[in-house]
Amino acid sequence: MAVTPTLETDVLRRQDPEIADLLLGELTRQSTTLQLIAAENFTSPAVLAALGSPLANKYAEGYPGARHHGGCELVDVAERLAVERAKALFGAEHANVQSHSGSSAVLAAYAALLRPGDTVLALGLSYGGHLTHGSPANFSGRWFDFVGYGVDAETGLIDHDQVRHLARNHRPKAIVCGSIAYPRHLDYAFFREVSDEVGAYLIADAAHPIGLVAGGAAPSPVPYADVVCATTHKVLRGPRGGMILCGGELAERVDRAVFPFTQGGAQMHTIAAKAVAFGEAATPAFGAYAHQVVANARVLAAQLVSEGLSVTTGGTDTHLITTDPAPLGVDGRTARGRLAGAGFVLDCCVLPHGDGRGLRLGTAAVTTQGMGEPEMVKIAALLASVLRGETEPAAAREEVRELAGRFPPYPG
Ligand SMILES: Cc1ncc(COP(=O)(O)O)c(C=O)c1O
Repeated sequence: MAVTPTLETDVLRRQDPEIADLLLGELTRQSTTLQLIAAENFTSPAVLAALGSPLANKYAEGYPGARHHGGCELVDVAERLAVERAKALFGAEHANVQSHSGSSAVLAAYAALLRPGDTVLALGLSYGGHLTHGSPANFSGRWFDFVGYGVDAETGLIDHDQVRHLARNHRPKAIVCGSIAYPRHLDYAFFREVSDEVGAYLIADAAHPIGLVAGGAAPSPVPYADVVCATTHKVLRGPRGGMILCGGELAERVDRAVFPFTQGGAQMHTIAAKAVAFGEAATPAFGAYAHQVVANARVLAAQLVSEGLSVTTGGTDTHLITTDPAPLGVDGRTARGRLAGAGFVLDCCVLPHGDGRGLRLGTAAVTTQGMGEPEMVKIAALLASVLRGETEPAAAREEVRELAGRFPPYPG
């Protein structure tokens, strides 16, 4: 069961059994339940090794070749490798790999392009926009004047006419495209065209689809957006963290916006782990995985429909599915609770119509485990059976344990 060097040598267990038990317990939880949270994945043992390495000890404020601390010769090489690999992987002129998270990447993008009080057009939070897209509880909503576009209540698709109309009326300084729950490809060419028409920057927040982009299973925002923000830990399967891609002309502004404007010292163990993940993402095996993620999501969505759930937009182009369990007689929150008892780990989400909550599922983690279309059919059938009350959660839990047991995330 040991997956990190620390657990392997049992150092942690000898020194701090309480925390060692927690780590092992979490590994057991992840290995015996179904990880259907769209934002999660299983990183490789190599990524975990980089995270648990002596690079965690190193302070490295600044950028390679221009650090505020001594002793950065080797971590400089790690960061240069991460940057070069990210540029090659996404065909970008510039990459900044220091953002501590997706939110930090978005904050830095705004800092690079905007001034407090500027108007920004983004997908409204009640339609799947992220907190950093104008939530009053977040810096974005406090410091900028956000205008929200939405999705069509019937189709669930982004209302392009409304985007164009709001852009013309509000003349935003930036337009943001990206979502925590939108299951379809975005039309980046459309967003570029509208941005050009009104003189706005285009920021693509590709936190979710960037792993599919890396694997050639989704269109890339890089040729269209002025700045692309992303996370490295979702479908991309790297360590928890963020990343920014942009053209050469914005490179310096973006770098200054990350450090020293919004962050201090870079986390070199995470940056090395990002380099490892980018290396993995450049392999044919990763491309096959990314396409399988989408194939699995399509089958899962179709099966959920045939089990009677309503799937927003009628399906998915990506790893992500949003579904309304109401036709089976349960609301999203109740459904999530009942499914948790059965070992399905997933999130609630907003729905295009009304105030009700739906369920958001993703297929990245189960695909990493090696599950394919037959397992998606089984998952949909079991999930619907639990929601209809035909299978007790405790009985379903055993079936989930058996299924997950056949696909260990860290075999051996
Ligand atoms: C579209 C989008 N932007 C930003 C983020 C923020 O990422 P993090 O949680 O790493 O700050 C997320 C995370 O789910 C996201 O989906």
